[in-house]
Amino acid sequence: MCGIVAYLGNKPARSLLIEGLKRLEYRGYDSAGIAIMNGKLHVVRAVGRVGTLEEKLDQLAARGEYDGTLGMCHTRWATHGGVTEVNAHPHRDDRHGIAVVHNGIIENYSALKTYLKEKGHAFSSETDTEVLAVLIGELYEGDLEAAVQAALREVDGAYAITVICEKEPDTLVVARKGSPLIVGIGADEYVVASDAAAIISHTTHAFALDDYNVVKLWRAAGADGQMVYEFRTSTIHNVPVTPKIEQLELDLEQIELGGYQHFMLKEIFEQPQSLRNCMSGRIDAKDGKVTLGGLANFARDLTRAKKVILTAQGTALHAAMIGRYLMEDLAKVQAQTEYASEFRYRNPIIEDGTVVIAVSQSGETADTLAALHEAKDRGALALGVVNVVGSSIARQTDAGVYLRVGPEIGVASTKAFLGQVSVLTLITLFMARRRMMSADHCADLLREMEQIPAKIERILEQAPRIKRVTEKYIDRENWLFLGRGYNFPTALEGALKLKEISYIHAEGMPAAEMKHGPIALINEGMPAVFIANKGRQYEKVLSNIHEVRARGGHVIAIATEGDEHIADHVQDVLYVPEISEPLSPMLTVVPLQIMAYYAALARGHDVDKPRNLAKSVTVE
Ligand code: G6P
Repeated sequence: MCGIVAYLGNKPARSLLIEGLKRLEYRGYDSAGIAIMNGKLHVVRAVGRVGTLEEKLDQLAARGEYDGTLGMCHTRWATHGGVTEVNAHPHRDDRHGIAVVHNGIIENYSALKTYLKEKGHAFSSETDTEVLAVLIGELYEGDLEAAVQAALREVDGAYAITVICEKEPDTLVVARKGSPLIVGIGADEYVVASDAAAIISHTTHAFALDDYNVVKLWRAAGADGQMVYEFRTSTIHNVPVTPKIEQLELDLEQIELGGYQHFMLKEIFEQPQSLRNCMSGRIDAKDGKVTLGGLANFARDLTRAKKVILTAQGTALHAAMIGRYLMEDLAKVQAQTEYASEFRYRNPIIEDGTVVIAVSQSGETADTLAALHEAKDRGALALGVVNVVGSSIARQTDAGVYLRVGPEIGVASTKAFLGQVSVLTLITLFMARRRMMSADHCADLLREMEQIPAKIERILEQAPRIKRVTEKYIDRENWLFLGRGYNFPTALEGALKLKEISYIHAEGMPAAEMKHGPIALINEGMPAVFIANKGRQYEKVLSNIHEVRARGGHVIAIATEGDEHIADHVQDVLYVPEISEPLSPMLTVVPLQIMAYYAALARGHDVDKPRNLAKSVTVE
């Protein structure tokens, strides 16, 4: 949600910033802007994608104004104010040539704006960020770092910001609370960005800011005339902080398309390998044992847990819902799922023995992070199931398990979902074995888990057929996704995938619920996707299929290989290999991902950058 890249170094900043910004475009893409220091502050902004900004910049570049070695840029996902050039970042103050780019929301911006207007300041945009820029200007007395610290002491809300000032042309000040920001340290250069993807082509040496940290990065001529690059980290109250510098574990290949047309397709096809990585070293199928290093110190708490609350948003919530079924069914522990956004504002009951698991690909989702804080404040053991290493949720939980599925760039989550379900299955089995599951039962399930990647490969081979089936229904504006038990959340996920990227209206629900209202929607030719794999409720699902058929609906069934019988009852069947029911969502979801992808493609949409969405939602 909004991407930031800033650079201070010995190379021309412009192309480097634009290249970094393109890597962060998944975070938001309604407008973009750049500020370069070259004697004076030069700012260019454009509505639309980073490519539009680049074209605009190329036309201006001949004038040489954009040749500086200090600069910053931003790709926006609008919160305050419409998608216009005036509202695009960077924003400037009205006095000192200060520019700010910002990811987050300044919640008390309205009160601050009134105060600043009374002081005689003028504003040109509707944004909260301009208020922050003007506030920093109001407090500026010749020291940018001090002005930023002072301004942030007045601010409520979330921010990752980078700030430059015409009066200090060799200084970059950056700060964070709630929204991620990483400082990459190269030889005579610093690259600051919202995420490591914009840093790794320059350096792998980096540190993540903690909340309320402010970093001043600057250069000055040393005794020998050579430029010396330095930085210092402090809090907004100017208390020095020692940052933890680490090696970024990210491979450039992982964040490139590698021949695929879209990241979403690449990530769907990566699933067998990413699942292998996720399970590697964690499964001992021979002895029926699961090893999760992150949870080793909390095994007793999990064994004695009285209740597990899984909390998340979006796709991660659907994975959490599957986790709930797994925990109740296999670990015999009371489990519930909660939208993080609702959980935090209710008055949740956290008794002794409650474990809260926050599930999140990015580890930065503001609602999920806030739910986690609520759970911790109320005394729960807080665990994370997170993909991004070192992210806010990963750092603020008591313990956790990483997905290890590699970076996910397509806005519509696919391989992270599978990783989340896989890790939640492993956590369930980790608990179940310590509670009442036999080693043999666990061993059987683990052996089956090991076969899942190969089974997914078989589903992927069917992609051309899934495409053809999808294209048959591509002109229909309303779809239903129906499933029962473990595959009710899969139905929700299938519907979410389709609506996210193809903008087709789709509803997911328990198959039995359909007759309590949604059945009224069914008319001639309406597509209904049934997850009808073999399991406890197979016969009941078949009855629901007949209810749809009787009203003219067209049924696409996701069925188990070998189930020829179902083909007599539906228009189209997509088969998945046989598997035990608790593990089945890891297979049944794959054809639904592929359907959504080809539906969006057939409708001519930008699959990786669906309208209005952003990959990482760092505002509430
Ligand atoms: C956004 C994304 C979804 C994602 C959700 C939760 O809405 O568009 O794809 O599922 O956030 O994200 P998280 O990073 O917490 O898994």
